[in-house]
This record gives sequence, C-alpha cells and structure tokens, in this order.
Amino acid sequence: MNTRSMRLALAGTAALALAMTPALAGAAPGNPGEPRFQEGDPGAGDPYFPLAGNGGIDVLHYDLDLTYQLPEPEPAPLEGQLDGVATIELRATQDLHRFNLDLRGLTATKVVVNGKSMRFDQVDNELRISPRPKLKTGDEATVEVTYGGATTRPTDIEGALYGWVTTRDGAMVVSEPDGSATWFPVSDHPTDKATYAYEITVPEGSVAVANGLLEGSETADGQTTWTWDAPDPMAAYLATATVGDFELDSYVAENGTPIIDAVDPALPDSASANLALTSDMLVFFEGSFGPYPFNSYGAIVDDDSVGYALETQTRSFFSRRAGESTVAHELAHQWMGNHVSPGRWADIWLNEGWASYASWMWSEEQGRASAQDSFEDVMSIPADDDFWDVVVADPGPLCLFCGAIYDRGAATLHALRVEVGDDAFFELAKTWVEQYGGGSATTADFSALAEEVSGQDLDAFFQMWLYDAEKPTDW
Ligand code: TRP
Ligand code: ZN
Repeated sequence: MNTRSMRLALAGTAALALAMTPALAGAAPGNPGEPRFQEGDPGAGDPYFPLAGNGGIDVLHYDLDLTYQLPEPEPAPLEGQLDGVATIELRATQDLHRFNLDLRGLTATKVVVNGKSMRFDQVDNELRISPRPKLKTGDEATVEVTYGGATTRPTDIEGALYGWVTTRDGAMVVSEPDGSATWFPVSDHPTDKATYAYEITVPEGSVAVANGLLEGSETADGQTTWTWDAPDPMAAYLATATVGDFELDSYVAENGTPIIDAVDPALPDSASANLALTSDMLVFFEGSFGPYPFNSYGAIVDDDSVGYALETQTRSFFSRRAGESTVAHELAHQWMGNHVSPGRWADIWLNEGWASYASWMWSEEQGRASAQDSFEDVMSIPADDDFWDVVVADPGPLCLFCGAIYDRGAATLHALRVEVGDDAFFELAKTWVEQYGGGSATTADFSALAEEVSGQDLDAFFQMWLYDAEKPTDW
C-alpha cells in the first residue's frame, strides 16, 4: 500500500479542472464517483530506484510456480533456464486502464487477469498490463503471468551479484535492494509487502529452499517439486528460492520457533557450527525487540559465494561460512528490516544500524566486547577519515551498504541509548517493532517515536548523527 498513488489521483483531477473551458469550469463537475482511468506509475516513488515498485496497485499475495534447469557442467557457461507461472493477487489503489509489474531479463509470454487473456508489453524492466474490464479503485484482481528465460548472474547498481544468481549446482537467490525482478514479476519495493507461496521444481537430487515452512516435496520423472508457505507479509527483496545441494535440518528453538537450516554438505562442519547459537540468540533478541515475528526461521549456508550474507525473511543466507556476529546480525534483521522495513531506501541505516547494534549486544551478552567497547572502536576513527563523510540518513543509492551505514548507524543507536537511558531505549525498540511491524517506516518516523518515548527533544541529536557529513563532536 502506498500513498503516492492517492496523490497522483488528486493531481490528475486538478489538472483536468484546469483544462476545462471557463464556461464548463463553472458548471457542476461530473459524477464525482465516476472513474478516471489512468496508467499506474511505473515506480513506487523512491528517488533512489525510481522504477522499483509500481503505482496504482497493492500486491497482496504471490503464488510462484517455478521450474528450473541447472547449468550444464563445466566448461558450459553458468546459465540456467527458469520457467515460471506467477499468480498474483492484487488490489487497485487507483482507477486503472494499465498497470506495471517489474520484470528484468525474462520474457512474459502470457498474462491472464481474472481468467481472461490480456494485452501486455515489456519495455526495459517494466511489464505493462492493460486489464479489461479496467480496474476501479479497491477492485481485487488475480493476475497470472507466464514467463521465463535463460538465467545469468545479475548485478546491482554497485556491480555486486544479486537476484537470481546462477551457480553450477543451482542458484543463490538474494535480491536486496531491487533484484527480485530478475526472477519473478513483482512490485519490487519494501512498501508493498505481500504473502508468498512457492512450488519449485528442480532436478531430482537438488533442493529448493524458500521462505517460511516446508509443506512437502514430491518426486516424479526425475524432477522434485518443493512446496513452501510464507504467510507473513514480506518485502520482495527478502524473498528467496535458492537451489542447490543442501541437507535440511529441522528442529524447534527454545522460544517455540520451528527452525529449518539448509547447509551445503560440501562445506566443512565449521561453516555452519555457529547456527547452533540460533536458539539462544532468538531468546536474547526477543528480550530486547519483542516476540519473534514470523512462522519459522533458519539459515541457508551455500558453498558458492556472493561474498555477503542476506537476511532473507525467515531463512537467512550465508556464503560459505556463517560467522557468529553475522548469524546474530541476520537474525536481528528479522525484526529490524524485515518485520519493520525501510519506507525508502534512504532509510537503510535503520536496517543495518539496528542489525549491527544487535550483534554488539550479543557480543556483550557472551562476555566479549561490550556495546560501549564497540562504540568506542567506531569513535576512534579519526575525524578526517572518509568514513565520516556519509550522510547516514541519505547516503545515495551507491552507498546503501557503505561501512558507515552499519557502524555509524550502530553508533548512533548506542549514543541514543546513552542519551535517553536504557529504559526509554529498549521501550523504543519494542514500540518501534510493535507499531510498524508488518509494514515499513522512515527515519522521520523513528526520530518522532524516539522523542515521544523519551519525552526529550532530539532534533539536534539526530541532526548531528544522521544528517551531518562529519564526525559527531559530543555524545
Ligand atoms: N543486507 C545485507 C547485510 O548486511 C547486505 C546486502 C546488500 C546483500 N545487498 C545484498 C547481500 C545482496 C547479498 C546480496 O546483511
Ligand atoms: Zn545487514
């Protein structure tokens, strides 16, 4: 759901009024309830990624039926084949004669809306669909897109691998910030959360690991279909359907959360040993952030490397090795980033600052470096270092994952804790999750809540820590 489409609808009405002749302008307007059909905006309105997400629609659910053929053995190129049918339930938030979904590098061959074949085309990374009958505000529609193509190794705006990353034994699927469009037609912005269900068919012997709970797997004619259910609202960048050689390990954590880990058996035991800390970490973070928000958790530890870990919802992804502080970081993201997601990509420090801070807290809990020690490490960076040049709350699309977003973000939270005291700080953390969980929120929402919970004026504090491109001078 987003409010931008509402503003566009109002702007359209005003423009029409201006275009009317003076005589007509004085006359009573036409039936105010009469629909004015428009094209949905091609983006959700995020200045960093103007074409990510889509105006005029609110996606409620994705049902992804995927069939994947792995690349041939070396020396064949790293190229697979993905064929999908995405059944998407959505609601119109404007009167629409056309709307878009994001789809990149794959070809749609058929689009069915409410049971009828529709006209569509693809321009750059936008799939444009013309529903007939047209959709009125509030109408729900089922949109079935048949699509497919060769899969490669896509990269993000910084050149880092992301999206459906083809590997020799399958695919690593890690899409932050706007890579979901490389594997399904999607409203690819965190303000448009939806529920997900998957049926993923892969060659027998391969395992497909997605978000949520495993419903089952069935093998026929040398192919296995893996069925996963992810009923907790999720931002598209957190969806995964990773394929590879995996061993699945299921158990129930101490807090009652069902855990499913998927570990590549080619890796040494040390690669996944820290996953044994998950249960204790869940209990610890519940103490600070409130109840774990999803139906399940677990990790994917893949032998291929994108070089990063990602907090894919309910099933964090790790390349090659799950280090202890990274295990804590990705788990904390489930509350901070996943349950409460950024309202715009400029707000990324709310994800990375909180997840990094949580990992400082875990270290202290384990009797190693305290949060104060970690804070002092960051503050020991000299004032003339480039590190301090980043505007944390508006880093630009090329600096979403700069070191300062993580470390100065975490230091900001520690300084805030010192400023308002432990009681207000942890009340803020829990209230933040409670108030915005299931949706998204911005830096302005955060600073407003911090002021409300603490009863303090924090304007100067947040200005110095989040908006000044220099080292804070007092804390
Ligand atoms: N959010 C990840 C982390 O800090 C980092 C990340 C950003 C990433 N984009 C990615 C990881 C794409 C994998 C793929 O935990
Ligand atoms: Zn992170």
